[in-house]
Amino acid sequence: MAPLKITVIGTGYLGATHAAAMAELGFEVLGLDVVPEKIALLASGRVPMYEPGLEELLSAHVAGLPGSTGRLRFTTSYEELGAFDADVHFVCVNTPQKHGEYACDMSYVDAVVESLAPHLTRPALVVGKSTVPVGSAERLAAKLTALAPAGEEIELAWNPEFLREGFAVQDTLHPDRIVIGVTTNSSARGEKLLREVYATPMGEGTPLVVTDFPTSELVKTAANSFLATKISFINAMAEVCEAAGGDVVKLAEAIGYDERIGKKFLRAGIGFGGGCLPKDIRAFMARAGELGADQALTFLREVDSINMRRRGHMVELARDAVGGSFLGKRVAVLGATFKPDSDDVRDSPALNVAGQIHLQGGQVTVYDPKGMDNARRVFPTLGYADTALDAARGAEVVLHLTEWREFRDLDPAALGEVVTDRLVLDGRNALDPALWRAAGWTYRAMGRPRA
Ligand code: UGA
Repeated sequence: MAPLKITVIGTGYLGATHAAAMAELGFEVLGLDVVPEKIALLASGRVPMYEPGLEELLSAHVAGLPGSTGRLRFTTSYEELGAFDADVHFVCVNTPQKHGEYACDMSYVDAVVESLAPHLTRPALVVGKSTVPVGSAERLAAKLTALAPAGEEIELAWNPEFLREGFAVQDTLHPDRIVIGVTTNSSARGEKLLREVYATPMGEGTPLVVTDFPTSELVKTAANSFLATKISFINAMAEVCEAAGGDVVKLAEAIGYDERIGKKFLRAGIGFGGGCLPKDIRAFMARAGELGADQALTFLREVDSINMRRRGHMVELARDAVGGSFLGKRVAVLGATFKPDSDDVRDSPALNVAGQIHLQGGQVTVYDPKGMDNARRVFPTLGYADTALDAARGAEVVLHLTEWREFRDLDPAALGEVVTDRLVLDGRNALDPALWRAAGWTYRAMGRPRA
């Protein structure tokens, strides 16, 4: 039997990784994006973002590259996509927060459906992977039926993605679970096709949850809301620890031994950021409001509020540490991305803190292992250095704001030689206090007692 033909529309973190993973599993894949520069890069086996392992996976399959399987091609043209005559089309475009609103912007998803539909002339399955407000799948299914020449023969399934940036390849190829949402009145052909896609090493031993449209959409927002809540919970505990003289790191360790609680996502610090958790909890609240269920999610407002307070609190700690004002003070910032192993600075707590200090008159120099280009683009008025050592030169305080391995491996003694004051504030509770103190540093962290 010939391998299934698959298209992947949208080639960001999600789409580029999904396309490469589908090729890895043996399918014939065509990736489409409307940004020609992105497509040109991908077609040469490179990726427009930093994502460990993705370039290697792509290069193994992109047609025309030496030694590749040739199973993966890219295009900007829906005509070419139509001619490819695929069995399954994955929609992987992003749904960012709307400007000036909490709701998410569905215009990219709708544009994909409108551009794709005229090319659907024979039975095919369209699979939504984007994070969307509950109710979208049903609306999009109706739109597809109305716009596609094959009409009722086009099925839609919802198949949310749970990958983390920095672990996109691993999470895509070895997911914790696969969720498939189908409409109750479907012919079940969609479910059968998707099961075929996942009846590969990707799905082996992986729990498969088949459910209806709304549940499948909600699983994704519920999962991200739970993760955000867990982080804000431990950050709330950090606030109390600071007030009471407790140690949030020990507290997290101790409660984490209870398997019902678990150790993961209990690292207190400057809080969560990125393109997903912050906008997803807000879009979820907005959607619940539209559904008349806003009361159910009022706690998410508090989750958001605790999270945003962390950034301000870090700025306060730094201001206190340098004597009450940033004016004339040199501040070194280690980290600009929203998390390590990514070059993404979207809603980055680190960059937010750096920016606030700059706006309060501090002389801020930032260093990040992979996020410099994006940080410069978003915040061009900050100072940037090529190494951690250069960022720290002459600094009165060093702020550790993204927990890259490179920062944990820094030699505090060497760094101590170039700063004006050996004062470090750990906004991620990830450095080793004993190591820094032994090298003569004053080490302070969020939610931990001062030594
Ligand atoms: C998140 C989810 O973890 C993925 O499962 C989901 O698929 C993805 O959103 C998405 O919706 O696409 P991601 O945004 O890549 O993934 O990042 P996370 O690893 O979840 O981290 C989010 C933020 O929380 C980061 O800023 C991180 O520094 C912060 N964090 C995480 C903490 O402050 N403390 C922790 O203990 C853990």
